[in-house]
Amino acid sequence: MAAHAAGVAIVTARPGGVPVGLTVTSFTSVSLAPPLVSFYVDHASATWPALREADCFAVNILAEDQHELAANFARKGIDRFATCPGWRAGVSGVPLLDGSIAHLVCRPHAVADIGDHVLAVGRVVATELPGGRPLLYHQATFGSFVAGQCE
Ligand SMILES: Cc1cc2nc3c(=O)[nH]c(=O)nc-3n(C[C@H](O)[C@H](O)[C@H](O)COP(=O)(O)O)c2cc1C
Repeated sequence: MAAHAAGVAIVTARPGGVPVGLTVTSFTSVSLAPPLVSFYVDHASATWPALREADCFAVNILAEDQHELAANFARKGIDRFATCPGWRAGVSGVPLLDGSIAHLVCRPHAVADIGDHVLAVGRVVATELPGGRPLLYHQATFGSFVAGQCE
């Protein structure tokens, strides 16, 4: 799987007014009609129980300069949001992280246990697309996308 280059996202929510979030590369599109997206979370995640309670979550697609933020939102024992340069409340108060290239606000649609992970599927109810260049993850290293190198 380390050979599979992937975009990096931080999934956020604010159940009970407390912001939570974690870094994922397992984010993917599932369906266009209805608009469904998904990600997988480790059963051992301390963030998942709070995330699961939320009536809304956001997928913040990270920009190439947000690698430190990606690392912080995968770190245990720190206040992740204190390391964040800024965020604002979107639909239902869900945290939208400043500097991300896209935000997808979702309502929970389905959850399933798959091996040692949980599959979380959300229905997209709002999007914001500030744009920019994406952060990628490959062979345990953050990097940038370079267009037009295939000719
Ligand atoms: C680039 C990157 C991608 C990650 N992708 C996932 C993922 O898709 N699913 C997951 O469960 N954990 C993933 N992780 C690990 C979680 O972010 C990390 O284990 C989690 O934040 C631990 O904290 P928690 O116990 O509060 O969930 C990833 C970490 C990094 C650095």
